[in-house]
Amino acid sequence: MLNAENIRLVHGNIRTGHEAVRGVSLRVQRGELLGLLGPNGAGKTSLVSVLTGLRLPTSGLVLLDGQPLSANRSDLRARIGLAPQETALYGALTGMENMRFFGSLYGLHGESLELRATHILESLGLLPWAQRAASTYSGGMLRRLNLAVALVHDPEILFLDEPTVGVDPQSRALLFDRIKALHREGRTIIYTSHHLEEVEALCPRLAIMDHGQIIACEALNVLLAEQPGSVSATCAKVPDPLAQLLAEKTAGHWLNTDDGFVVECLDPAGKATMMVETLLAHGVRPERLVVRPADLQSVFLRLTGRGMRDG
Ligand SMILES: Nc1ncnc2c1ncn2[C@@H]1O[C@H](COP(=O)(O)OP(=O)(O)OP(=O)(O)O)[C@@H](O)[C@H]1O
Ligand SMILES: [Mg+2]
Repeated sequence: MLNAENIRLVHGNIRTGHEAVRGVSLRVQRGELLGLLGPNGAGKTSLVSVLTGLRLPTSGLVLLDGQPLSANRSDLRARIGLAPQETALYGALTGMENMRFFGSLYGLHGESLELRATHILESLGLLPWAQRAASTYSGGMLRRLNLAVALVHDPEILFLDEPTVGVDPQSRALLFDRIKALHREGRTIIYTSHHLEEVEALCPRLAIMDHGQIIACEALNVLLAEQPGSVSATCAKVPDPLAQLLAEKTAGHWLNTDDGFVVECLDPAGKATMMVETLLAHGVRPERLVVRPADLQSVFLRLTGRGMRDG
């Protein structure tokens, strides 16, 4: 549905400016919920600004159903919605007036706009506050209104750039439920977040960016399968030859800890039974066994490293 080809984006002067996106190609399928991850400054928001048609790329092409997303194609851009990382709402306007304003930018007006705006505000728990100035909204309400205005023109593709940043668990749960419902309705969603557990629960496929490039674009289960997890057994000290045997059988690494024995390996759940059987066969009886599958946090750190991105 959305096809980006070799996108580059330089902020500021083409020769002296900062190249925030450095040759990104990406295909997003219709109805997909794609996670876009990366450390601070990786270039996610810059890439999103190009994919939504807000910014023209310095070079490269964005195609929506095969048609270039150029400056004069407002018809194509109207099929895209963006809830930006920096909310762009009008504090002096009420929630409903914000909806009307953003709706009018897409040529919506009259009763259909009122009905649609009311329905969206209600679905995001904002109807009781619809007549209050947005400047009086809490952080969670502003994030919900930010999503509401992105939906007012019923876009087919929705970009959510950090939609849950700075919100409490209640607002987060509501936003999360709405995003899942929007996906179930068939909308294509590109979801950017630093909350890896959210992305893990929501997005079947991920694009991971670092230093302006996509360094991995895979199904979540493929990324997780490539990362080791662990099996920890609470037991008496495992003699080195037995530990070595287990490491060979699991193709992993072992270490004895204060209260037992740990093997780090790929597919720990699939290897746990064999480990217990081997321990028992050698007279070691584990009291407790804990299987820790790989998580997205460890995948993310393996791919992007542990260095801070402070400048
Ligand atoms: N308007 C701009 N002018 C100059 N440099 C910019 C501009 N916007 C972003 N940058 C720089 O481009 C790089 C990528 O920024 P971007 O905001 O796209 O990253 P990000 O992945 O969205 O980060 P975050 O996770 O913090 O939101 C950063 O080094 C940033 O400082
Ligand atoms: Mg950003």
